[in-house]
Amino acid sequence: MIDLNLSEEQGALQKLARDFAQKEIVPVALQYDKEPAFPGEIIKKAHAAGLMNLTCPKEYGGQGLGLVNATLITEELTAACVAIAAMIGINSLACGPILISGTEEQKRRFLIPLNQAGKTASFGLTEREAGSDAGSLKTLAKPEGDHYVLNGQKCFITNASYADLYSIFATLDPTKGTKAITAFLVPRESPGLSIGKVEDKMGQRALNVAEVNLDNVIVPRENRLGNEGEGFKIAMETLDEGRVNIASCAVGLARAAFQAALDYAKKRVQFGKPIGTFQALNFMLADMAVAVDSARLLTWYAASMADQGKRYTREAAQAKFFATDVAMRVTIDAVQIHGGYGYTKDYAVEKYMRDAKLTQIYEGTNQVNRIVAGGVLMKE
Ligand code: CAA
Repeated sequence: MIDLNLSEEQGALQKLARDFAQKEIVPVALQYDKEPAFPGEIIKKAHAAGLMNLTCPKEYGGQGLGLVNATLITEELTAACVAIAAMIGINSLACGPILISGTEEQKRRFLIPLNQAGKTASFGLTEREAGSDAGSLKTLAKPEGDHYVLNGQKCFITNASYADLYSIFATLDPTKGTKAITAFLVPRESPGLSIGKVEDKMGQRALNVAEVNLDNVIVPRENRLGNEGEGFKIAMETLDEGRVNIASCAVGLARAAFQAALDYAKKRVQFGKPIGTFQALNFMLADMAVAVDSARLLTWYAASMADQGKRYTREAAQAKFFATDVAMRVTIDAVQIHGGYGYTKDYAVEKYMRDAKLTQIYEGTNQVNRIVAGGVLMKE
């Protein structure tokens, strides 16, 4: 038998996150969308409430949760605002490389102070000419004695402007593709590290996304993660978990849009009846409900594979592209059900629609995620 009921502990985690989201995020979400700013106070409160660094083990200052339990929290926070939730959750991506490949000493040196102080990090893989084709990145790491010298530029880096630590992927030899990529930990105060252009985005306005410039940045050998040439695999493994997190963000976002559409369809009266009773809209609502429920189940499935210690690359990619496509479709339909009002800023659904678009793009476009899932299928 498969039991999909939440345990008492899971119900309590879900309630904690839901109450936090209602109290701290919902009242300010539209304001942050209008005037994007760093949600520093909310991050601080989320940290105090135990809603940050969810899957990082307790001995390194995290919550020590499994990925299924983390998805319960992420769904609740994103139902309030996906951008603010992603700023709260960014450390799970940014610090993933340390948990995957860091030595005990590195985990203690980097994770404990960062997590205990409620500080944030960034994951630096993407470059202007290396987006989907991450293996072609050009940021150079030149070995020199007891250190490496890093030169290059990262772009579309979430939380770049506010991070205290960056996991940076650089190559020892750009002619060797994925085989020469190496992972490094670069503290913010490193001379030569600077923040470039901050992106002005269509949606997820509270999500800081910026360039990171590396100009002769000296990184000690003891800040290298794993061996030389292991960086690409470290990045891909990190993205396996990241893609499950994005899937749960998409579920939260789609759920919020569906709920708004349902509430509206029950109270908006046209032709003498609530519009939700007309078959055209009633069927739309039924399709939205089944899409949200299936996206959640796929997400939980991928997360449970991770919790069992199994390889879950395909399941993570599938959950990511399915759930984020659901989020896009459901948010578009939520605007449609609201009619002309849905297209105005008086209702939250137009924000949901703009926010959803990015979920289909980041952590691997949905086309790349289909490549990943399809590639595993051919090898299974
Ligand atoms: N786990 C472990 N190893 C993996 C892996 C995984 N999930 N995926 C690939 N690998 C290994 C492969 O087995 C292969 O190993 P061998 O060389 O030993 O055979 C090696 O890595 C190279 O893999 P590929 O040959 O598949 O590499 P590729 O160059 O063809 O790239 C790709 C494949 C899937 C397209 C990859 O480049 C990719 O995922 N691109 C998208 C990058 C991406 O998601 N960027 C998002 C950035 S982060 C972001 O958006 C977050 C944010 O800020 C919010």
